[in-house]
Amino acid sequence: MIVLKNLSKQYTRDSVGLHEVDLHIQPGEFVSVVGQSGTGKTTMVKLLIAEERPSAGKIEIGGWDITNISRHDVPLLRRQIGVIFQDFKLLPQKTVLENVEFALEVAGERKSRIQQVVPRVLDIVGLSHKNERYPHQLSGGEQQRVAIARALVHRPKILVADEPTGNLDSINTQEIIEILKKINEFGTTILLVTHNREVVNQLKRRVVTLHDGRLISDEHKGKYRL
Ligand SMILES: Nc1ncnc2c1ncn2[C@@H]1O[C@H](COP(=O)(O)OP(=O)(O)O)[C@@H](O)[C@H]1O
Ligand SMILES: [Mg+2]
Repeated sequence: MIVLKNLSKQYTRDSVGLHEVDLHIQPGEFVSVVGQSGTGKTTMVKLLIAEERPSAGKIEIGGWDITNISRHDVPLLRRQIGVIFQDFKLLPQKTVLENVEFALEVAGERKSRIQQVVPRVLDIVGLSHKNERYPHQLSGGEQQRVAIARALVHRPKILVADEPTGNLDSINTQEIIEILKKINEFGTTILLVTHNREVVNQLKRRVVTLHDGRLISDEHKGKYRL
């Protein structure tokens, strides 16, 4: 599903993002990526969604070599990989419903399809009853749930979450993790970048640790060991 081969990202002569990382992730896995600040976690996310290009090595997604993906093909990739961030990135002038609809509109989907998909994804995140609200009228956890709904509109095979609970308290954090687990149970591969020790230890799933751009450990049923 996801294959990183000897993957490196050198931003400038003295700024290393990732250094010779090898990682294979099977369909349906739930993998946590941990590591101190500045160790290459976000770089890995950006390489996976083709927001940055590798300096060396190779990336495959579902058998598709995206190492040198053309700009034209990036939207195709983004349909296969949903992504959420720490800061939600919702459009403040649009309602919950409009934020989620917009992701399909920009992809050129038909109205009938949009009306079919959007209620379904809002239901998955438990926000159907708040679909007329604006982002500022929601809690942080609810805003992240909208972002998750938006990330699911293309039924991606992979969901990448870069510190999705970094701005949330422990109750909202738990809610988001439960939703990610549910999405994983539906068969979606999850890559969760997190600093949260409790979350990682409670998941009892695979844990990949980065340090200074290098992959220093990869454990099944791993623990947060930093
Ligand atoms: N656009 C960039 N230009 C130069 N250096 C960068 C850039 N983005 C990230 N870096 C550097 O790459 C390293 C890894 O950063 P990042 O992947 O954001 O780490 P993390 O997400 O683990 O905190 C850091 O040393 C950071 O300063
Ligand atoms: Mg980061």
